[in-house]
Amino acid sequence: MKSEAYINGFSKRTKAEKIDWICSQFFHDPEAAKQLLESYWNSDTQLQQLHDEFIENALTNYYLPLGVAPNFIINGTSYTLPMAIEESSVVAAAAKAAKFWQTRGGFKAKALAMEKVGQVHFNFNGTPTSLHAFFEHIKPQLLEDCKPLTKKMEARGGGISSVTLVDKSEAIPQYFQLHVHFNTVDAMGANFINSCLEQMASTLQAAAEDYFSDQDVRLEVVMSILSNYVPNCLVEAEVRCPVEDLGTHDGLDAEHFARKFIQAVHIAEKEPYRAVTHNKGIMNGVDAVVLATGNDFRAVEAGVHAYAARNGQYSSLSSAAIEDNIFVFRLQLPLALGTVGGLTRLHPLVQWSLELLGNPSAANLMEIVAVAGLAQNFAALRSLVSSGIQKGHMKMHLLNLLNQHKADTSQKAAAVKYFEQHNVSSQAVQDFLKAHPKT
Ligand code: MEV
Repeated sequence: MKSEAYINGFSKRTKAEKIDWICSQFFHDPEAAKQLLESYWNSDTQLQQLHDEFIENALTNYYLPLGVAPNFIINGTSYTLPMAIEESSVVAAAAKAAKFWQTRGGFKAKALAMEKVGQVHFNFNGTPTSLHAFFEHIKPQLLEDCKPLTKKMEARGGGISSVTLVDKSEAIPQYFQLHVHFNTVDAMGANFINSCLEQMASTLQAAAEDYFSDQDVRLEVVMSILSNYVPNCLVEAEVRCPVEDLGTHDGLDAEHFARKFIQAVHIAEKEPYRAVTHNKGIMNGVDAVVLATGNDFRAVEAGVHAYAARNGQYSSLSSAAIEDNIFVFRLQLPLALGTVGGLTRLHPLVQWSLELLGNPSAANLMEIVAVAGLAQNFAALRSLVSSGIQKGHMKMHLLNLLNQHKADTSQKAAAVKYFEQHNVSSQAVQDFLKAHPKT
């Protein structure tokens, strides 16, 4: 890297200028770096432009595989789930779990609530009593001034459900909030919520200046933004079957398997180190479907992990028990998702994924995503308490290892056959390739 590698007005340059500057400043072989970027461009220039315009300073496309996991039965309907993810074993594990539960009643899921949240954060140096009186006076105006923004959402059955004044002055002196609840129907609704909040903030500020004009009192808006913590935008997914129907798993009979499986979940309920990894496994399924359907996985991640710590200690999102000899495995998590607006109308593969799912409503998508999380958690725990995770994981990782060592097509075919009977490791793959050189 050159020591003077900084630039003014970078975003104003053309794409070609940006690439030239980046490659010449930061790469030992600028031509190769440039060619690599260009090799990922789409030959359909309109499609490429669409992707370039998603973000600022786009230079190329960053591929992730889009796979599918078939055979999911959810609330009696059959689904094939689209999954965008790089981790080799995730789609295979989802498909395996789907197949397992297909003959045991399938998955049940229910969106329990759909409430979104936003806040206007402000300072007020008068008395809380005067602020409450002002809030009651201004509340109808706060809602009225949002009407141009909420009209369409109301026609779809949503809108602003409530506005409350929250006194947070014990936590931070003179700090208060407008805490607003929204129903955004099938939209994730971030832009809608933020626009309403900014309108409320400006109404609040202007009205306060008027209302308190003859007093030495000031109201100052600090910021207005949605919250990604949505504990009342909640979905539940479940599988259940008689214990004996669980069958044997790597030498464990059904009862022994159920006991170990349930203990694995209990450990994640009580032990944060394990809970984080346990929930990461759930998010393998959740994020893959969230990403494929064009939703904001960072928002989902932030909200889900906050929910997992809602009782003061980070804990498992799933629970498991035997109830009257029935094995029950459940997952509850908050998911703020949309099936209209945002990327859903723009990204052709997102549209494809939504069509694959039968163009679901947001509530329906919440159920599907929760099922993907539960399936992934089931697959991980099943392996962990029986064969161990590495056997399946490394099998799925085999092609990555072969690619890493530049194996050709016939070496790959031979290796896949050989490793059906042998343990996969990086060393074992290297030894195999040495013994089977390219012809
Ligand atoms: C790996 O991506 C996910 C797991 O670690 C999840 C778990 O341990 O439950 C296998």
